Amino acid sequence: MNKIPVSRPTVTDEMVEAMADAVRNERMVLGESVFKFEEEFARYTGTKHAISVSSGTDALVLTLIALNVRGKEVITSPLSFIATANSIVHAGATPVFADSSPKDLNIDPAEVRTMSGTAAIMPVHLFGQPARMDELREAVGEKVKIIEDACQAHGAVYKGKKAGSIGDAGCFSFYATKNMTVGGDGGMITTNDERLAADLRKLRDCGRTSRYVHDIFGFTARLNTANAAFGRVQLRNLDGWNERRRAIARRYAEKLRDVPEVILPPMGNRDITPVFHLFVVRAEDRDALARSLQSRDIETAVHYPVPIHLQPVYRDAFGYSPGSYPESERLADRVLSLPVFPTLADEDVDRVCEAIIDHYGGKI
Ligand SMILES: Cc1ncc(COP(=O)(O)O)c(C=O)c1O
Repeated sequence: MNKIPVSRPTVTDEMVEAMADAVRNERMVLGESVFKFEEEFARYTGTKHAISVSSGTDALVLTLIALNVRGKEVITSPLSFIATANSIVHAGATPVFADSSPKDLNIDPAEVRTMSGTAAIMPVHLFGQPARMDELREAVGEKVKIIEDACQAHGAVYKGKKAGSIGDAGCFSFYATKNMTVGGDGGMITTNDERLAADLRKLRDCGRTSRYVHDIFGFTARLNTANAAFGRVQLRNLDGWNERRRAIARRYAEKLRDVPEVILPPMGNRDITPVFHLFVVRAEDRDALARSLQSRDIETAVHYPVPIHLQPVYRDAFGYSPGSYPESERLADRVLSLPVFPTLADEDVDRVCEAIIDHYGGKI
């Protein structure tokens, strides 16, 4: 039987040829494909501006720096990839966490407490499930900036708006396993704020205002032209791929509906269209279930086994200990990511479901 990976990027000849063509015929850095990709991505998300950068982490760091959060506090979720909180530290601010909701695994608006030093909140649309943006805006008021960590949510929709177009800025990652990639590391920032966009364009390009003039302390954080060319082709496929991810999610939900040991993720509703970057179930015996699936050549993953505040570096720097964010800690002990990617076949989804049902001793 074939091994089923948890995730697999789709790479076509068209993408590879677009990349090769860009290397041969364009400026390797800030070539035409970069600006076309930005234009197309802005149009896709429904924002006025899109600024490409070299990773999702850089998208977050540069946005926070441009919003001048140094010395202040930024609220985010403890259940995310560590880069979310690291970006706050790298921008010279202090990360403050708000516990996750067991309903959607995103930041719980009821847990958000702003302080006089709160500059921004960075909700994560975790696993492709949009955070509760209206409630979050209500919780933080109008003065606090909202930066969407949309690194796992390309194409997700919240109340008619695409991820990345709801807050003051949206940050995306194009890492290999994301819903779309650029054939390597890459990132994008989306915003309607003209001034922020202009500052970000300078920040990613050594602080340049023109070739030899630099008026801010910038970075080398550009997206390579070849990667932008690859990303343009991926973007054209994104909606179709997301549709397939949702179909896979529905198939899992249908087949696992009667397995009481498995808690399924939210499937979306009138207001929310998720994009299932990951299909994350919850189980009390998560590790045993993962081992069972592994023995049947089905790969799974855990996003994330250790919440950010309990990582050694955060314990050391900020003094967190178990119990600080109990809901995130409970979730971290139970979450299990099942295989989901656009080329995953229905039969393979069925094989995963049968293995789960079998693990719990049920009838197939
Ligand atoms: C939620 C989240 N935030 C930030 C990042 C950082 O993105 P990158 O790996 O492109 O730096 C990632 C992905 O890796 C992520 O999943």
